Amino acid sequence: MPASGSERFDVYMERCLYGPDGFYTSGRGSAGRRRDFITSPEVGPLFGAVMANALDKLWEDLDRPSRFPVLDFGSGPGALVRSLEAAEPQCSAAWDLQGMDRAHSEGIDTDEWPDLTNGVIIANELLDNLSFRIVERTPKGFAEVWVRDGIEELIPTDVKLDIPVGTRAPLLEAARGWIEWAMQSGAAHILVFDYGMKTTSDLATRGGWLRTYTSHNRGTDPYVTPGSVDITTDIAIDQLPSPDLVSTQAQFLSCHGIENLVAEGKEYWRSHAASPDVQALRMRSRVSEAEALLDTDGLGGWLALRWDNNSQ
Ligand SMILES: C[S@@+](CC[C@H](N)C(=O)[O-])C[C@H]1O[C@@H](n2cnc3c(N)ncnc32)[C@H](O)[C@@H]1O
Repeated sequence: MPASGSERFDVYMERCLYGPDGFYTSGRGSAGRRRDFITSPEVGPLFGAVMANALDKLWEDLDRPSRFPVLDFGSGPGALVRSLEAAEPQCSAAWDLQGMDRAHSEGIDTDEWPDLTNGVIIANELLDNLSFRIVERTPKGFAEVWVRDGIEELIPTDVKLDIPVGTRAPLLEAARGWIEWAMQSGAAHILVFDYGMKTTSDLATRGGWLRTYTSHNRGTDPYVTPGSVDITTDIAIDQLPSPDLVSTQAQFLSCHGIENLVAEGKEYWRSHAASPDVQALRMRSRVSEAEALLDTDGLGGWLALRWDNNSQ
């Protein structure tokens, strides 16, 4: 039994991120993490421009429905929604594009969503941020991390994970629950981008899956002052409902035309270099944005996962 005053790790994490003065509740999440570790939509508008191509393709494949809901779930301050709007894809004639984020909206109630039928839900770096439990395999069985006054307690548990003795892994119940909710929402497709690996065993063996972010460092200690750091994990695909498409972010972006957009940007810059305007600078920046987005040691190596709702 955990000592009184102990919290299971996921409860502790929830409080650190979303409790009073939590990392996201306090607004530190909008400034702190991004200062050093920007997400793909925050690299610049190119990610959104490629996503706009991907949305057009999905819309075409759905026979161009006249109503096309697109929900960016966990949208943060809204960079992806803004760049999607700026890209003006063909499907924008039909889309109902919305971003929603727990840290930016009060009283979100997922029972009150607009009808997402025939739509697409996008989640960039959301799953890593949903509260997770931590399970360790000890020589005697399995134990779970609880936290009391910033100190870990290991409490025996019935949960079993396929991981080597002496290692730990996250238990991604909330991430799994979110995908299940998204599948039942009526959306035709769910697109998820996040860091992670195929299996829980891969994560446990490699280690380093528990990531914290403060304004200046990436670390691994989630027990520093609660609310002062973001707490995240690499995800393991084998804990989620089985996706219909698994690729890296670099593969996904290539498949949806990032190289053409960069070539277009270079050409625009070349023809405007003598007297560049803001658009010319924006087009030139596609080159460096693509480098960051495709870097397989960074954002390009993130997972791109898609679930298709076959009942559509
Ligand atoms: C790392 S940020 C990513 C923000 C944005 N998608 C991006 O790529 O820049 C994760 C976001 O997920 C949001 N979030 C976490 N849990 C959520 C939930 N249950 N519902 C809605 N948003 C959530 C957080 O508030 C946070 O802004």
